[in-house]
Amino acid sequence: MDSFEYRDDVLYGEDVALSRVTEQYGTPTYVYSRETLERHYLAYANALGEHPGMICYAVKANSNIAVLNLLARLGSGFDIVSQGELERVIRAGGDPSRVVFSGVAKQPAEIRRALELGIHCFNAESDAELDRINAVAGDMGKVAPISLRVNPDVDANTHPYISTGLKENKFGISIDQALAVYQRAASLPNLEVVGLDCHIGSQLTELTPFIDALDRLLVLVDQLADNGINLKHLDLGGGLGVCYADEEPPLPSAYMEAVLSKLGNRQLELIMEPGRSIAANAGVLLTRVEFLKPTEHKNFAIIDAAMNDLIRPSLYSAYQDIIPLKIDASREQLSWDLVGPVCETGDFLGKDRQLGLEPGDLLAVCSSGAYGFTMSSNYNSRNRAAEVMVDGDSIHLIRQREDFEHQIRGEQLLPNDSK
Ligand code: LLP
Repeated sequence: MDSFEYRDDVLYGEDVALSRVTEQYGTPTYVYSRETLERHYLAYANALGEHPGMICYAVKANSNIAVLNLLARLGSGFDIVSQGELERVIRAGGDPSRVVFSGVAKQPAEIRRALELGIHCFNAESDAELDRINAVAGDMGKVAPISLRVNPDVDANTHPYISTGLKENKFGISIDQALAVYQRAASLPNLEVVGLDCHIGSQLTELTPFIDALDRLLVLVDQLADNGINLKHLDLGGGLGVCYADEEPPLPSAYMEAVLSKLGNRQLELIMEPGRSIAANAGVLLTRVEFLKPTEHKNFAIIDAAMNDLIRPSLYSAYQDIIPLKIDASREQLSWDLVGPVCETGDFLGKDRQLGLEPGDLLAVCSSGAYGFTMSSNYNSRNRAAEVMVDGDSIHLIRQREDFEHQIRGEQLLPNDSK
């Protein structure tokens, strides 16, 4: 459920007619709903209830500091994968002791900064990474809390590019080798083993793969305890899917209920790292139709948003609804490919969509709040889009549209006499 809906054929985000956003800030512009973000976070937090643990929002889904700040105010923790994400969390008022640090290759400087700030835990993904964390912590005279990301070898049944829990993926430590790696980690002087981590993939629309993974992890938890390694927490990663078209993913409450009942009386804090299920349906991307170009084979509608603004359709053939800001029932509905101005055949946001279009029309690309702006680029030297947050009937600008000076900041010419 989200707060984007039609009222008398006009699309609203909360109590804001979205055409107001385009009048003030132009297009393409990302719009997020504060109410939806908060409700989605609270669905997890309430499902966790009194059980000890944290909901660590995955910053990569949407890292705008206003988004992070809203979640921090509600007590959210954060899952980060770089120092940049860590600094964003801090700038947004997040609590470093509620941060978990994921990713396959954390740089020494990143590890150092995270240790200085006192994060909750490093999710280490290999033997080599354990050595690196141990060495940096040793230099600083500190002990680093670590969790091992274990790869349980389950099929998440999702797009291959966003499936991460199979043997052939680059992520984590194979579950067969986990005990040995844990024993080694426990022997390193500047590490404290605190948890077990796993993330099997993204946009999962059924619980079974999560539960299969959990079953395997719990066998390992018990095996570790038998070997004198008692964990404080279990981190199940993110991955719960959302409805882009007609998917019916389980609710956080159903997921959490299944997990808590499996934990039984093990004294484990629970961490989850949801990204998409908090942010995706809390955002839309607004765009304007530039030209209509019907051809013998296809009807193209050229819009002012492109693959550099939202790459999911090009990269994963992902489907996202595209709907008008104002419904005009008198228009003839035709099948359109919605394509951007970038010089690539793969530059499309939607194909074969039934719409009644005219040049100048305003459209919303739905479910764009996660992996939208964060994956955008300056390809074709296009300025990145503006971002706004609607809150009741207010509109807050949370990122200015980039301008050319922003875009070339840091670039410079060669000196005149260079060869
Ligand atoms: N934790 C870890 C370690 C992750 O790698 C991810 C996502 C998450 C949590 C959050 O997963 P979520 O709840 O959002 O599914 N760009 C792709 C999605 C890539 C997901 C990468 N990892 C897309 O646009 O579909």
